[in-house]
Amino acid sequence: MKIATSILNSSDRIESVINLNRTNTSYIHVDVMDGKFVDDNQFSVKEIKAVNLVTKYPMDVHLMVNDPLKYIEELSNLNISYVTFHLEIKKDKKKIISKIKELGYKVGISIKPDTDLGELVPYFSDIDMVLVMSVEPGKGGQKFLANTVKRIKELKRMIVASGYNIEIEVDGGINEDNIVKLNDVDIAVVGSYIVKSDNYYRQIENLLRTFNSNKTGKKNEFNILYKLLLGIGILLFILMIGLVLFKKMCYGYFYR
Ligand code: DX5
Ligand code: ZN
Repeated sequence: MKIATSILNSSDRIESVINLNRTNTSYIHVDVMDGKFVDDNQFSVKEIKAVNLVTKYPMDVHLMVNDPLKYIEELSNLNISYVTFHLEIKKDKKKIISKIKELGYKVGISIKPDTDLGELVPYFSDIDMVLVMSVEPGKGGQKFLANTVKRIKELKRMIVASGYNIEIEVDGGINEDNIVKLNDVDIAVVGSYIVKSDNYYRQIENLLRTFNSNKTGKKNEFNILYKLLLGIGILLFILMIGLVLFKKMCYGYFYR
């Protein structure tokens, strides 16, 4: 599990990026909004370039816009790992995918909470990542939608069945309490939980530690169960051998 920190809700974004350089985040998540696909208007290309100047970590650009090509063309030669656009827009998606690849960035497609996962399948062969929204896109600080957990499980099953190597990212309302439910997730986008605190380093360590100890906990539970079953198996086997030997002894005694 990697953390992509969303700086949308921070009071001073550039200062936040400088602080994040001293943490174990893996990406800086940048939410671009056009005032059409979502109500808000955020993150100009100029601001992305300003982040690029100070960040040690690559950017993870989330385009919540109707016309991604308008933005992508201006994003060349930046410290960007992923550019993600939305499945729900009415534009030629194959064209957008090739443009992102042309710039040398990985391609993500994001899906809103109510959109059918099946609509992603035609793009599986072309993309590197699916970004599952765990809130309605548009603003930070919202509550994690509980049915996201089921959607991630189903998406993971679909990806494995397809045979493609596609990462899963989840975005919205993630904190210390719900990160343990995100087992199949490769990247968790976390905003408020980090940037609304006074210690980014501690918050990120908390998230990673909680996620990892939950995974080890599950492994340990499995190990205990496995050892218990093995023990019962061996005991039954010894009992059976004993019984056979006992029977043979009795037989020998009576028919001597
Ligand atoms: C929501 C954005 C998210 C948001 C995450 O539309 O895409 O990236 O900033 O922030 P929190 O963690 O506060 O929900
Ligand atoms: Zn986002």
